[in-house]
Amino acid sequence: MKNLVVLSGAGMSAESGISTFRDAGGLWDTYPVEQVATPEGYERDPALVIRFYNERRKQFLDVKPNCGHELLTELEKHFNVTVITQNVDNLHERAGSTNVIHLHGELTKVCSSKDPYDPHYIKELKSEEYDVKLGDLAADGSQLRPFIVWFGEAVPQIETAVQFVSKADVFVIIGTSMNVYPAAGLLNYVSREADVWLIDPKEVRVDSSRKINIIRKGASEGVAELLSRLCK
Ligand code: OAD
Repeated sequence: MKNLVVLSGAGMSAESGISTFRDAGGLWDTYPVEQVATPEGYERDPALVIRFYNERRKQFLDVKPNCGHELLTELEKHFNVTVITQNVDNLHERAGSTNVIHLHGELTKVCSSKDPYDPHYIKELKSEEYDVKLGDLAADGSQLRPFIVWFGEAVPQIETAVQFVSKADVFVIIGTSMNVYPAAGLLNYVSREADVWLIDPKEVRVDSSRKINIIRKGASEGVAELLSRLCK
């Protein structure tokens, strides 16, 4: 089977009711990014940052994977599929995708404030633990912090992502403005022979001269069209 790699962003989950970041009314319009998504913001006001992610985590209890997430799992009948997502929700997994790489962390997990990427201290929260409090400690004695890769932090999964992307026969970009690096730079590792698709209702500027098949639709309709065009 051929290898198909998806790079997904916030638009993938928009039809599930999770707001994107940079569309009008998006999350970064409401919350200053430097306050809630940087290590400096966390150092300044950990309670505010913990509360921000608690609220987003609780929102997850009410949302479900959309048709786009579900149709992506259909592709697994025809391809070896790897989903590389910038999303911190778990909707790809809940829809049934088998191989999911989270570049920017996972909202249902917490980690050590001292060493956020030490796997020993990364913990999956049960739904009744979603309300993390100042004073809740990781096993190393430091404050539990959201397992989110903030701006200015290294992206530990990028090397693994590059390995999958460089072996892709088909590369599909869905619902990302391609503004944030190193995620957006993954396109540079796709082989020249591979087929590249981009699903987004708006025009997305990509930093590449290669041929890209554009499906200008939302995730659900767009993945349905992709399926019919790839698996006729
Ligand atoms: P953005 O908010 O930058 O981009 C969302 C994209 O989704 C835009 O191109 C929209 O046109 C598109 N979109 C909107 N509705 C859609 C739909 N129904 N179906 C498909 N696409 C739709 O979000 P990202 O590119 O994911 O990082 O942002 C990247 C990173 O920046 C995030 O992971 C987050 C953010 O800051 C961190 O928090 C570290």
